[in-house]
Parts: sequence; C-alpha cells; structure tokens
Amino acid sequence: MMTVNSAISPFTQYDLPTIVSINEACDSFPWRLSHFEQSVSAKHHCVCVKVNTSIIGFAVTKINPFESELLQVGILPEYQKQGFASRLLLSVIDVCKAQSQQLFLEVRESNVAAIALYESLEFNCVGQRNNYYPAAKGRENALIFALELNI
Ligand SMILES: CC(C)(COP(=O)(O)OP(=O)(O)OC[C@H]1O[C@@H](n2cnc3c(N)ncnc32)[C@H](O)[C@@H]1OP(=O)(O)O)[C@@H](O)C(=O)NCCC(=O)NCCS
Repeated sequence: MMTVNSAISPFTQYDLPTIVSINEACDSFPWRLSHFEQSVSAKHHCVCVKVNTSIIGFAVTKINPFESELLQVGILPEYQKQGFASRLLLSVIDVCKAQSQQLFLEVRESNVAAIALYESLEFNCVGQRNNYYPAAKGRENALIFALELNI
C-alpha cells in the first residue's frame, strides 16, 4: 500500500549523491555521477519520490516536442512493489503529454519487473536492439517500448 507521507518533486544537483546511491542499490549497471550531472545540466525532467522527506526513488526523462525518452528510473529495493514507480511515472507521463507525442524507453530483455511496470502503464514493445547492453555474461538485448501520449 502507498505510504501516505510521500511526495513527488524535482531533484537538483544537491540531491545527486542520494540519487547515485539509490541507482547503485537497485541497478547492476548504474549510471555514473557524471551522467546524472549531464542530465541536470541539460535540464532533463529530473524528479524524485520522497517518503517522510527522504528520497527513495527517481526518474530522469529527456522531453522533446515529438519523442521523449525515459532515461532512468529506480526505486530503493526496500520500497519496491508498493506503487512508487507507477506513481512517479504517471507524473512523468502527465508532464510529457503536455509537450510530446510519444514516450520511448529501452529496457533489458531480462528485466521482468521493469517490463511488467511499463506494460501496466500501457507502453507497447515496438522494437529490439540485439546485444545492446553489457551483461554479467556477454551481452543482452534491449527492448524498446513506446507510449502514445496524444490518443
Ligand atoms: C522496475 C522498478 C522501477 C519498479 O518499481 P516499483 O516501485 O517496485 O514498481 P510498482 O510498485 O509501481 O509496480 C507497478 C507494477 O509493475 C509491475 N512490477 C513491479 N515490480 C515487479 C516485479 N518485481 N515482478 C513483476 N512485476 C513487477 C507490477 O505489474 C506492478 O503492479 P502490481 O503491483 O499492481 O502488480 C523497480 O523494480 C526498480 O527500481 N528496479 C531496478 C531499476 C530498474 O530496473 N529500472 C528500470 C530500467 S529500464
């Protein structure tokens, strides 16, 4: 069940140490600090979810007039499966809808949790990039998902 004392807000460069540590805690192939710094500098849509004032998850989205791209999303493991990513991404989708036609993302073929999340939000798989990601053993395919925003 969703904790009542939760809120979604922008994150800034001052939050990056926390964002990086969440990304490292939930993702085997996390972004480096410099990737997040570039997103903040480029004014990507950088939002976090807080529980009782502590950041427990985040999303980074590059918003463009036609095609936007969800670049990163992560929720601390102890807060997963409680609806936080859905809530965060619904807020991102709302912002994109005002400015963009489609929202794209790429996900590892093995990432069943993220794929189920995107499908629950009505993203459709529209393509595949073979051997796109480095993996523990060799390489792994990326699946491309898209959400039509103005239908
Ligand atoms: C993917 C991730 C962001 C989901 O966050 P979350 O807050 O746990 O997701 P939610 O609780 O909002 O779940 C929404 C829906 O996603 C699906 N889902 C989420 N986690 C799942 C899991 N472990 N297994 C199967 N389905 C899952 C379910 O359909 C769920 O709806 P339901 O609870 O009604 O069944 C989280 O697992 C995470 O941070 N993973 C590591 C980082 C990552 O993989 N990011 C995506 C990179 S493309």
